[in-house]
Amino acid sequence: MILAESVTVLKELLKKSVGEIGFVPTMGALHKGHLSLIKESKSKTTTTVVSIFINPTQFNDPGDLKKYPRDIESDLKLLDNILSDNDIVFTPQADDLYSFENPVIPDLGNLDKVLEGKHRPGHFSGVVRVVKLLFEIIDPDRAFFGQKDFQQLVIIKEMVRRLEMKIEVTGCPTLRESTGLAMSSRNKLLTNNIRSKASIIYKTLKNHNVITDPGKICETSSAIIKTIDSIEEFRTEYFEIVNDKTLESITKESIIDPSAKYYGCIAVFAGNVRLIDNVEFSFSFAKG
Ligand code: PAJ
Repeated sequence: MILAESVTVLKELLKKSVGEIGFVPTMGALHKGHLSLIKESKSKTTTTVVSIFINPTQFNDPGDLKKYPRDIESDLKLLDNILSDNDIVFTPQADDLYSFENPVIPDLGNLDKVLEGKHRPGHFSGVVRVVKLLFEIIDPDRAFFGQKDFQQLVIIKEMVRRLEMKIEVTGCPTLRESTGLAMSSRNKLLTNNIRSKASIIYKTLKNHNVITDPGKICETSSAIIKTIDSIEEFRTEYFEIVNDKTLESITKESIIDPSAKYYGCIAVFAGNVRLIDNVEFSFSFAKG
């Protein structure tokens, strides 16, 4: 693999690359979830570019930015094991990267105002800024994002559509620990005790993800929140079941769109670490 620490070096390398370019943006502290995206890119394209950049503009809380896990040496070792000689790892500095910004940000309607957008104001404008900037610099044919950050994936697809960028955005499945806990860089911040209890999040979502009666939507949401909040040091910030196209939250009055998928999305404080997850929900009453 080749390391590019500045935009200028990256651009020179990209001029020489041949074939399709696959891009996997990350903030480092890499785990198997990130590696699965990189493997997918390698299987679909000729050159894979992986960026490692802790993007300050997407952290609405300076404390969260400060404590975000960083482990560049271990990241580079992991990448060296799976990348080929022609693949590129891009590790820019914020001043360098943002000096190339064309600051036109698309309007995303309601998509960035709900779920995470409501609870982390400004988060998605930072994500959109950096991903748009990276897309403009790298100009990939394909880009790979995790379903783990479901709303981010929906927003990036919409950004690409609105800006008419010629990039195929692929969503990849969430990789989980054997306990069911979704892999996340933030898991490194959990104490062993809280980490062992955090499997409750996925288990509870899976236990409730088939809804048989529209009247039970509210009851199901309350049951999920109650089960998780009964664990000491766990507090649900939100749980909503949303349509994967509009991100509208469903209620008992909603008409289920048979062409859409529905995801139960959750944010939970486990101790002082904020975890997010999502699971597909289905409605057996929608049929017939
Ligand atoms: P980061 O949290 O490092 O995640 C990078 C990519 O890995 C995202 O597409 C995320 O959805 C995916 N990912 C994380 N955990 C995963 C898991 N358990 N299984 C599968 N994929 C997983 O998301 C970001 O960084 C940033 O917002 C970024 C897009 C890089 C912009 O700064």
